[in-house]
Amino acid sequence: MNVIRFSDLCANGQAAGQRVFIRADLNVPQADDGSITEDTRVRASVPCIQMALAAGATVMVTSHLGRPTEGEFKPEDSLAPVAKRLGELLGREVPLVANWVDGVQVAPGQVVLLENCRVNKGEKKNDEVLARKMAALCDIFVNDAFGTAHRAEGTTYGIAQFAPIACAGPLLAAEIDAIGKALAKPQRPLAAIVAGSKVSTKLTILKSLSQNVDQLIVGGGIANTFMLAAGLKIGKSLAESDLVGEAKAVIEAMKARGAEVPIPTDVVVAKTFAADAVATVKKATDVADDDLILDIGPETAAHLAAQLKKAGTIVWNGPVGVFEFAPFENGTKVIAQAIAESSAFSLAGGGDTLAAIAKYGIEKQVGYISTGGGAFLEILEGKTLPAFEILTQRAAG
Ligand code: 3PG
Repeated sequence: MNVIRFSDLCANGQAAGQRVFIRADLNVPQADDGSITEDTRVRASVPCIQMALAAGATVMVTSHLGRPTEGEFKPEDSLAPVAKRLGELLGREVPLVANWVDGVQVAPGQVVLLENCRVNKGEKKNDEVLARKMAALCDIFVNDAFGTAHRAEGTTYGIAQFAPIACAGPLLAAEIDAIGKALAKPQRPLAAIVAGSKVSTKLTILKSLSQNVDQLIVGGGIANTFMLAAGLKIGKSLAESDLVGEAKAVIEAMKARGAEVPIPTDVVVAKTFAADAVATVKKATDVADDDLILDIGPETAAHLAAQLKKAGTIVWNGPVGVFEFAPFENGTKVIAQAIAESSAFSLAGGGDTLAAIAKYGIEKQVGYISTGGGAFLEILEGKTLPAFEILTQRAAG
C-alpha cells in the first residue's frame, strides 16, 4: 500500500519544528475506578510519539475512549488515566488538554494529549467543519490508530483530507506491512485459522479467505456447522443449521481451487458446558445426540499442527475450542505451539486469539500480533479500510 510514512518524514528532517497531530488508538479496557486493565495499545503508541519528539516536532496526540455522547463530556470519558500511563512510559509529564478544537498551546519538543476526540460534535459523522478545524492545528497529520482504521471519522478520515501532509505512523505502517505480507503477497502454502462461535459473524471472512488461502482451518462453533455440511452428526453442539449451505459453498470453492477445509476427524465432547465437565475424546463419526463438542480431538490437532508447520504463512483469528476450560484447551494449545514452532510468517488478531497467545506465552514467536479488533476482522473480510484509503489518496497527490 502506497502511503507517506512518518518515519521517512522524520528521517529526512521534514518533521523538525512542525506541528504534528497524531491520531492514536488509546481505547483501552478500564476497571470501574477508571484504572487501565490492559495497556497494550498505550505501549504500542509510544514509538510514534518518541519518533516525533526526537525529530523536534510539536506533538499533539489524541484518541477516542469508548463511545461517549458527542458534546456531553462526562468524567468517565476522560483520557486522564491514559495521560498518566503515557507519561510513565515516556518518562515525562503528558498534560491533558480539553476543549482543544479551536487552538492548542504547545511548544516544540513538548507533547500534549488532547482529550477524547469522540466528545467533539461531528467526530463520528466526519463533519467537514470539524475536520478542517482539526487540520488547521497541524502541519503534519499522522494516523497511527490501526484499531480505528475501519472508521471514517473526523480524526481518522476528515483531518487526513485537509491537513497539509497526511501520513501513516509506525504502528499503522507495521500493520499495513504485516497484512500485505500475509494476504497480498504470502509465502505459500497460506493457512488461515478462523474460529469462533458463529459462522454468521465470520461468513464474509470465510468467503473472502476461501478465494486466497490454501488451507482454511475452522474451529469452535464454526467447525460444528462445517461438520454438519460434511454430513457428520454434532449432537447438541452449538451450530447454525441454516448456514450449512453457505458452509458447503465455502468447501466447494476451496476444492475447486485445489485447496481444502480440513474437517475434524476426532473431537472432545462433554454432556454439559462447564469447566469441570467430563471430557471424552470421540471419533467425529461417533458423536452422540446428547454430546456437546467443545474442542477438536488430539488426532485432528496433530494433523493441523503438521500442516501449520509446513505453511509459509499463517493467519490466525479465533481459538479452536473452549480453551478457557482446562479439559478443552488442548486443541488451541497444540495449534498455538505449532504456530510458535513454524517457520511461517504468522499474523494473529482478535481479542480471544490474543488471550490464547498470552496464555501459552508465544508472543515472541508470532510474526505480527495486530492491535486491531474490528479493523483486523474487516481486513480479513477483504475490505479496504477508510483510514488506509485516504492516506493512499493523499500519497498519490
Ligand atoms: C476498538 O476497540 O476496536 C477500536 O478502538 C474501535 O472502537 P469502536 O468500535 O468504538 O469504533
